[in-house]
Amino acid sequence: MKRKYQHFATNAIRTQHERGFREHSVPLYLTSSFVFEDAEQARALFADEYTDNIYSRFSNPNTSEFIEKMCILEGMEDGFATATGMAAVFASMMPFLNKGDHILASSALFASTTKIIKEYMPNWGIEHSFFDINQPETWESLIQPNTKMIFAETPSNPGLVLIDMEHLCNIGKKHNVLVNIDNCFATPYLQQPAKYGADIITHSATKFLDGQGRVTGGVVLANKEITKTIRQFCRQTGPSLSPFNAWILSKSLETLHVRMDRHCQNALELAQWLETQEDIKKVVYPFLKSHPQYELAKKQMTQGGGVVTFEVHGGLERGRKFLDSLQLFSHTANLGDCRSIATHPASTTHSKIDEASRKASGIENGTIRTSIGLEHIDDIKADILQALEKSR
Ligand SMILES: Cc1ncc(COP(=O)(O)O)c(C=O)c1O
Repeated sequence: MKRKYQHFATNAIRTQHERGFREHSVPLYLTSSFVFEDAEQARALFADEYTDNIYSRFSNPNTSEFIEKMCILEGMEDGFATATGMAAVFASMMPFLNKGDHILASSALFASTTKIIKEYMPNWGIEHSFFDINQPETWESLIQPNTKMIFAETPSNPGLVLIDMEHLCNIGKKHNVLVNIDNCFATPYLQQPAKYGADIITHSATKFLDGQGRVTGGVVLANKEITKTIRQFCRQTGPSLSPFNAWILSKSLETLHVRMDRHCQNALELAQWLETQEDIKKVVYPFLKSHPQYELAKKQMTQGGGVVTFEVHGGLERGRKFLDSLQLFSHTANLGDCRSIATHPASTTHSKIDEASRKASGIENGTIRTSIGLEHIDDIKADILQALEKSR
């Protein structure tokens, strides 16, 4: 989709569905279906002779506006919006993988994505390999004659490991394999995988795109041809985003740039401060000079994002005590909210994958994942300080 304006912010605010009643802000189109003008229009629409709304499982003006904005912001042509990020991940993979095919995926993925690849796909006759995120020189050798897709997430949840997108996309291009990037943590404001040639961009919109912890959602973006296949799959299987949630998400995009600037500013300041604290064993944040991939982070991201991961001295027990001592931070299984959030991945989101796989994703038993919100940074630091003292 072509950018209408030169700047990200203007596109995020000024991309709007055509006005019907001179309304300033886009209204909600709460309708499950759309009336046909006559039998000929109904026939032509079902025959895909042209596109217009038929039924909200297929498309709706609110979902279309959200998709159009995301296409412009990511530099992609077309897309499909889903009810959750996992529905987007699933819809971005399954139409392209058949019995006997192979998917090559990063070893550092969101746990549910790993589970789909590792536990469900074998039941459907789809093979997989995981590439070691720390050994980019080995990735290409894992491509097989039946490899149809490479799937990666950067930065990863929650280890904040980065994938060199240029390197990965070059491998994909060379072997004619689709490259699918989950851009949930960075959002298109911080990085655009399309610049490196990613074929598919997948998002959980539940995180920073919403930004206020209100709705779940997802979106898959690609060129027109790839999207046609995804749209057909979704039309039949029905993971579509509701018009109400699409309306919320499209409104949220209007403030994404302002929110991300503050998330990143707070997160960087906190990460630098945590590195000076004796109780902290390790801090991971892409824009810290100590991050092993700091140079790559600077190359492919404009700022470091809103998630900071750290390990408290004292292992699992201290980590749990620390979490229980936090007062301002919410202890909840989400991220990307304007409220700061802390979680313990080893006992929650990543508890269903084995310890070795957790370690490969950068998760130790004492790792705490924080999503840094938009509160004042001094209050955020003060809460961490008092929890460190209490848990000693
Ligand atoms: C990187 C990543 N991808 C996908 C998902 C799944 O998104 P959702 O929870 O909206 O289904 C998450 C959720 O945390 C995530 O962090």
